Amino acid sequence: MNFKISNQKPEVATTSLVVVSTETETIATGSPLARLDSAMKGQLGKILKQEGFKGKAPEQKLIHTQGQLSADAILVVGRAFEIKGDLPANNLEILRRAASGAARLANARQYKTMCFDLSGWDPGDFKESDLVQATVEGMELGSYRFDTYRNKKDIKKNSLTTVHLTGISSRNSNQSAIERGLAISEGTLLARDLVNAPANDMNPQTLAKEAKKVGPNIQCKVYSKAEITKLKMGSYLSVSAGSEVPPALIHMVYKPKGKSKKTVAVVGKGVTFDSGGLSLKPSGSMETMKDDMAGSAAAIGLMQTLARIQPKVTVHVVVAATENMPSGAATKPGDVVTAMNGKTIEILNTDAEGRLTLADALHFIIQKGPDVVIDMATLTGACLVALGERISGLMGNDDKLLDDLIEASEYSGEMLWQLPLLEEYRADLKSPIADLKNIGGRWGGTITAGLFLQEFVGKARWAHLDIAGPSWSDKQLPYISRGGTGCMVSTLTQYILHL
Ligand code: BES
Ligand code: ZN
Ligand code: ZN
Repeated sequence: MNFKISNQKPEVATTSLVVVSTETETIATGSPLARLDSAMKGQLGKILKQEGFKGKAPEQKLIHTQGQLSADAILVVGRAFEIKGDLPANNLEILRRAASGAARLANARQYKTMCFDLSGWDPGDFKESDLVQATVEGMELGSYRFDTYRNKKDIKKNSLTTVHLTGISSRNSNQSAIERGLAISEGTLLARDLVNAPANDMNPQTLAKEAKKVGPNIQCKVYSKAEITKLKMGSYLSVSAGSEVPPALIHMVYKPKGKSKKTVAVVGKGVTFDSGGLSLKPSGSMETMKDDMAGSAAAIGLMQTLARIQPKVTVHVVVAATENMPSGAATKPGDVVTAMNGKTIEILNTDAEGRLTLADALHFIIQKGPDVVIDMATLTGACLVALGERISGLMGNDDKLLDDLIEASEYSGEMLWQLPLLEEYRADLKSPIADLKNIGGRWGGTITAGLFLQEFVGKARWAHLDIAGPSWSDKQLPYISRGGTGCMVSTLTQYILHL
């Protein structure tokens, strides 16, 4: 989609669709809606009244202009909302959803052009440019469809190609906000594509190939099974033992052109299919397990975004890609393996494999001395039990890093909730024969998984995001499609941009 900042008045817009907002039942005098109403000889107000339009998000009402304006139709969007609860939506998120709704409607009606008026949207604690960025994100993310596996003849292309943004200043900051919105969307949509591709096509080797395509100017080194063995990643290799497809350790680097402010390392869980291994999952639980590489998809998507935005921060991505399969060669419950950092692990449940891959990936990158390391993983079903499908679990050992991530999530609209890494629970990970076992007790599974990872980060500043819930959606949400969501590309981009 092409986004242009325009000083055109919505009532004379020549686009097929005009979108304006209101936060009241009655039309505010002097507002774009009032001017559209008078251009429509008062009919707009009449229809809104008849239909009981309140001006509350997420209300949207489409009204045809019947030839009275050069636009075909007007979409009136309610923007009023109440702040309720602990993780309330803010005005950026309300706008992102409204913009998505407008773009989806334009595509459904085959409209090619739209004028989206931003006057009246209050940036609140944010900036006008953040509103612009959220609008672009909402429209791009909301227009996504995963059609790769459909017959070409059944695919209806998106019609919307040009969006004029009105009611904002034509400052440079708004122009770069458009570019940021496009870059974040591109990375998020790449992550969705990687997750949505089925595991017969998306395996450790093909995932590595996709990582190599990211760019421009992203270095990508892929370590073979022999090289991973040389690195002594016994924990990671134990997960791959039952698989026909060899593992691939992916290491990507983005380096800024000038001076770098900081070095951030991002580790993504890349289990391209999690059958559970010999601790086999029931078939229902396996249905969405192609999603078990969503952490790596977000990390790779993030690199695509950074290649476009070019922040002044060095970013490493590490993915210990593997399948988790049963076979005669698979790891058996009770096996003991040695991780790259020398710790021995008794594997009592082969379905707790994510932490085994992350242990070695975290140790590998921490040795290179980044300022912070953040891992993202579809790690525990327990996180879905605790926080549901829409909230990611956040844990770590550095308050500033955790606070910065929460602040970044207020920009992105992706919800995070901190869980405590209670020292006392570490006892649950004690093994009678090795340094650690790979499962805790019956309770607090998200926390014990976090505590397990902590054993491999040493003194590094570290945060862990359990994205088991939000990385996947069973249903269409305002700007999230069914399937992989590409979550955390936006939050991590915002985090990096605010460093
Ligand atoms: N990939 C799963 C976690 C998961 C579950 C992600 C549901 C998304 C949706 C992970 O590897 C796993 O199987 N974890 C086990 C750990 C248990 C054996 C300690 C779990 O959560 O049941
Ligand atoms: Zn598992
Ligand atoms: Zn898993």
